[in-house]
Amino acid sequence: MIYMDVNASAPLRPEVADKCLPFLRELHGNPSSIHAAGRKLRAAIDEARDCVAAFFGCAPREVIFVSGGSEADNLAIKGVARALRGKGNHIVTTAVEHPAVLNACRDLADDGFEIAYLDVDRQGRLDLDRLKAALTDRTILISIMAANNETGVVFPVAQIGEIAAARGIAFHCDAVQAAGRLPLDAAAAKIDLLSLSGHKLGAPSGGGALIVRGNVKPHPQIHGGLQEFGRRAGTENAAAIVGLGEACAVLQKTMTDEIRRVGALRDRLECGLRTALSFATAIGDKQSRLSNTSLMVFAGVAADSLLVNLDLAGIAVSSGSACAAGTVRPSHVLAAMGLPPDLNKCALRFSLGIHNTEAEVDDVLRILPAMAVRLRKP
Ligand SMILES: Cc1ncc(COP(=O)(O)O)c(C=O)c1O
Repeated sequence: MIYMDVNASAPLRPEVADKCLPFLRELHGNPSSIHAAGRKLRAAIDEARDCVAAFFGCAPREVIFVSGGSEADNLAIKGVARALRGKGNHIVTTAVEHPAVLNACRDLADDGFEIAYLDVDRQGRLDLDRLKAALTDRTILISIMAANNETGVVFPVAQIGEIAAARGIAFHCDAVQAAGRLPLDAAAAKIDLLSLSGHKLGAPSGGGALIVRGNVKPHPQIHGGLQEFGRRAGTENAAAIVGLGEACAVLQKTMTDEIRRVGALRDRLECGLRTALSFATAIGDKQSRLSNTSLMVFAGVAADSLLVNLDLAGIAVSSGSACAAGTVRPSHVLAAMGLPPDLNKCALRFSLGIHNTEAEVDDVLRILPAMAVRLRKP
């Protein structure tokens, strides 16, 4: 299979698999236990925490391990809202966030919070003057992603961090897609809360982290024991945590090279498809995009038909976001970018990773154009 759906979930890195396996096979126990088995797990979790902290520019005690990006987003948004409710009830986010952010905000809206959703332009870019204008004395949180999961468009997080810090407003950044695909330093970018997901980085599903910096202390969303400094109860998923730590340790050494290598493959694919098909266009800001992501519109070709045909040919891609998979719904991101509904249905996302090769890209370039021409209804 040619797998080009890394933004949905990346293949497990071999180094990560090697590091995780003993924690599934031999190393049983509970990290909170006093005995040797428990202590071994605790030490491994501490080591993973150090790796995550070193990679994302924070202190180890600022890393809270959770079950993934969705939980990290919910803990950040609902946790801060609960913690700062006495200060205000206004939250600013964007119209193109992942459902984990949008639906957490919706839940808070049912609870009396006011949510401002910033629009983006046709390239998917944010207007920072509009962000400044949206802030009020009651704004307690800005939640803006680092890079969009559908288009790969990158937002200027350091500038957003400056704006938030100048107003004393907490800044949550969903970095689930940006992590490992561009340099991210939470302290330098003045990010107070940063969401991560293991399975987008080549670590197992079921692991992730919320980095919590500075004075903001989100209320726990899962109550129970005192794990994770009292911010997230539940026996730790040691294998997933160790895997996340190892993925960060690997990326610390390889990220620059990976970005360049995957970017060359993505550009070869995108350029090849645009050359072969006059009705193919790439969506999103070309100046500021994740190097692995290409969202392409094949005008007149229903994305769900093309997706199924590619799948039958052994090529895995995605239409819009994977979280809406199974039902191909028009993308809220593309709608916010002003793409008309008839083109919204024709968008296919290619998201590449280090496992992909030039030969695979060339196979897609050999197979897809004829398929798209056959399926096209002008
Ligand atoms: C930007 C973004 N945030 C959050 C999530 C949710 O992450 P998880 O699948 O780990 O819950 C995703 C998943 O695709 C994502 O792309």
